[in-house]
Amino acid sequence: MVFDVLTLFPGMFDSPFADSIVGKAVDKGLVQITAHHLRDWAQGKHKVTDDVPYGGGDGMVLKPEPVARALRELRCRQPGSKVLLMTPQGQPFRQAHARRLAQQEGLIFLCGRYEGFDERIRTMVDEEFSLGDFVLTGGELAAMAMIDAVARLVPGVLGNRDSADGDSYSDGLLEYPQYTRPADFEGMSVPDVLLSGNHAAIAAWRRRQQILRTWLRRPELLETACLSDEDRLVLREVQRQTGEDCAS
Ligand SMILES: C[S@@+](CC[C@H](N)C(=O)[O-])C[C@H]1O[C@@H](n2cnc3c(N)ncnc32)[C@H](O)[C@@H]1O
Repeated sequence: MVFDVLTLFPGMFDSPFADSIVGKAVDKGLVQITAHHLRDWAQGKHKVTDDVPYGGGDGMVLKPEPVARALRELRCRQPGSKVLLMTPQGQPFRQAHARRLAQQEGLIFLCGRYEGFDERIRTMVDEEFSLGDFVLTGGELAAMAMIDAVARLVPGVLGNRDSADGDSYSDGLLEYPQYTRPADFEGMSVPDVLLSGNHAAIAAWRRRQQILRTWLRRPELLETACLSDEDRLVLREVQRQTGEDCAS
């Protein structure tokens, strides 16, 4: 899968994808990540990419022409690519988006700076994404987070050791708590069931923990999660129990 990034700071992308799982995927040729300098598509002696806002006000606005030229060229090189605009005004990025975007042949990330993009740039993009309800100085960190989340879902990137199947949000719920050795750490012991070797009991405990955690931390996720009849029984029990705990 090909990830292209349009940015005024391509050097920011040198190190985050050099190591670990995504770094290995790059080495194996499973993903290709290229940060392009927007200035390469700017014209004139000074290669200007921004200008003052019409109507006055603080800050600078990214001009539409270099972006349009860059997108035309990048789309020619990789015709199947979708263009994603990084903006705090976009739809909040979620795991379901990562799963969908991982099916694409290519993605082009548009990273803003200063006051952001000229409004007309919105007509050139397929989707707008926000990393959350806060304002970053630029779109690069948002693009990096999205690339990381999407790249790990590209087939072959994660081995069995790092499967994404049980991750939080993969089935609409948060993941169950995980433990490793030692069995006792400073008086905190691992739940007995995990040491029992009883696989059915472990699976039931983990599912219950997923439901409990989601109910306690992100109850709104339960409205859309895929729950079996058995899960719903567990949820009712968990709700009753935590309700009683709160009341007592
Ligand atoms: C300082 S921000 C501009 C914010 C803009 N004036 C506004 O209020 O909507 C500069 C750039 O950072 C990026 N950015 C800032 N916050 C972001 C967020 N939460 N998610 C994604 N990108 C963000 C965008 O690319 C944006 O164009």
